Amino acid sequence: MEVIILDSAEMVFDEAASRVINLIKKNKKAVLGLATGRTMEGVYKRLVKAYQQGKVDFSSVTTFNLDEYLGLEQDDPRSFRAYMEQHLFSQVNLRPEQTFIPHSRPQDIEEECRRYEALIKEKGGIDLQLLGLGRDGHIGFNEPSSSLAARTRVKTLTDETLLDNFGTLNAPRFALTMGIGTILEAREIILLALGEKKAEAVVQMVEGPVTASCPASALQFHPVVRVVIDQPAASLLQRKSYYLWVWHHKQEAEKLSSNWARSQKKNNPPE
Ligand code: GLP
Repeated sequence: MEVIILDSAEMVFDEAASRVINLIKKNKKAVLGLATGRTMEGVYKRLVKAYQQGKVDFSSVTTFNLDEYLGLEQDDPRSFRAYMEQHLFSQVNLRPEQTFIPHSRPQDIEEECRRYEALIKEKGGIDLQLLGLGRDGHIGFNEPSSSLAARTRVKTLTDETLLDNFGTLNAPRFALTMGIGTILEAREIILLALGEKKAEAVVQMVEGPVTASCPASALQFHPVVRVVIDQPAASLLQRKSYYLWVWHHKQEAEKLSSNWARSQKKNNPPE
């Protein structure tokens, strides 16, 4: 895991948005995995701004959202479809038929889960998955005790999640979510977390054991994960100064490895 600790939420949003933009510049047909939640709003604002300034073109991009509440009408303002329309889809040139979110009222739930998994495969898999982090360590809606191998399926939300997301327990209790197994298949993952409220989940995820009690800890198995957080979210990390050192000396490390690669090429020219 690359742990990137930045001085402000604004810098966290910039870091994530610029990685998404660079990916699309390199691969205009990129497949993005998208997340919802307050943290993501800052990232989407930057993507919209970059689009308005002509710096990024979403016309060939495909998106898959992590999750959706079950039982809500599609235009219910609490749905993730409504969230995505408001914060991103209606403001950039993504083609509507290329934006996928699990249905909130599928006729057959199991069939919907299978369809979603098959669609991800059909589109070539997810190149870059954005993730937020629940206070209880959830990613997507994989709540504590979720199987770390699970695929897209129904999950029951915890009281903590309902209170965080709606401020009341009188809210949708069930959701369809990509499983941890699905998420781990993305080629690259960026997880964002802000504020002291997330500090406990961050330390469990990064420095704790891999356990279903903190589903985000499964990310330790993924080879390309960036955890981008602000100082308050990093406040409980034991190796905080190490992560900061690594980040601030990243260019040095990159220079060393490219010099090394160059010298290897020189000494072993291709036949
Ligand atoms: C919801 C989403 C998660 C997200 C979490 C964090 O529960 N299903 O994918 O990570 O919110 O939300 P926030 O950024 O508002 O803290």
